[in-house]
Amino acid sequence: MIAQRRRPFTVDLRTPHTGDGMRSKWLPRTSLVLEFALRVFRAGTVATSNLVEVQNVTFSYDQREVLKNINLVVPKGKVVAIMGLSGCGKTTLLRLIGGALFPNQGEIRVADRVVNKLGHDALFELRRKMGMLFQFGALFTDISSFENVAFQMREHTNLPGSIIRDLALMKLQAVGLRGAADLMPSELSGGMARRVALARSIALDPMLMMYDEPFTGLDPISLGVIGQLIRRLNDSLGATSIVVTHDVAEALELVDYVYYMSAGKVEFQGTPDEVRAAGLSSLRQFVYGEPDGPVPFHYPAPDYRQDLLAQ
Ligand SMILES: Nc1ncnc2c1ncn2[C@@H]1O[C@H](COP(=O)(O)OP(=O)(O)O)[C@@H](O)[C@H]1O
Ligand SMILES: [Mg+2]
Repeated sequence: MIAQRRRPFTVDLRTPHTGDGMRSKWLPRTSLVLEFALRVFRAGTVATSNLVEVQNVTFSYDQREVLKNINLVVPKGKVVAIMGLSGCGKTTLLRLIGGALFPNQGEIRVADRVVNKLGHDALFELRRKMGMLFQFGALFTDISSFENVAFQMREHTNLPGSIIRDLALMKLQAVGLRGAADLMPSELSGGMARRVALARSIALDPMLMMYDEPFTGLDPISLGVIGQLIRRLNDSLGATSIVVTHDVAEALELVDYVYYMSAGKVEFQGTPDEVRAAGLSSLRQFVYGEPDGPVPFHYPAPDYRQDLLAQ
């Protein structure tokens, strides 16, 4: 049911069955030591199986609390959606994970490093391993698609030009636009521009990809293409992805897990099937695009009849 909150992707930590046929006086102690070692090993596995862990994070812009005790994890290799109505704090959460903002309370771990406690250099180093596709992530308008992708590599690596050329072409090939390498951004359709921006954000082979509203403003075909690319690139690059979106239909097709936020809190979490089956009314309204529900269609107004009759 919807009210259930649980940690997703937990690993079973139960002690394995240990046969106790030939007990010697050493065996109990030996098996205890082994069991302890196994637990430590497995606990280590649990800790590192999540690429991102957000723990008890609270964040305010000035006095206004925007995120209230958020907990979420993104396991390695998975694509996780963060959904919710406009203004509920999704972009803010991405910026916290990327280390562009710092929480008032709590901890954000990426690849076992506490982002909000890193020094400047270490943070910069970690950010190089994160790719961001911002909402309306604009391309540089006065350079070609190819140069938009190659630019990232020139900025952040010392690779020779010939290798950068091949790598940039490979990234463009991955999004189906090698043939558009020489086109200027003004010559691209909206969907193509988004794909070049996608190629640019994977230029440095990020371990973590973050997409902020990647489907906004796209026609249905381009939207489907971007959705499939997000999934395919994640899996083929061996990356981990966070997709912030309010496009429910598209997201449920491509992600492994969903966090649904409302007013700065995680209100629900579950697999796409659990989201579809969920009975929470605000989520139903969100999932099925119902015009009225807990989020009202009508802006608060005085009584209709009285309003009409009033002169
Ligand atoms: N730089 C800022 N300064 C003050 N308030 C902000 C700032 N950015 C966002 N907010 C506010 O914080 C809330 C969450 O914003 P945001 O994270 O952008 O939401 P979402 O991405 O879910 O639409 C909103 O009410 C927004 O108005
Ligand atoms: Mg946003």
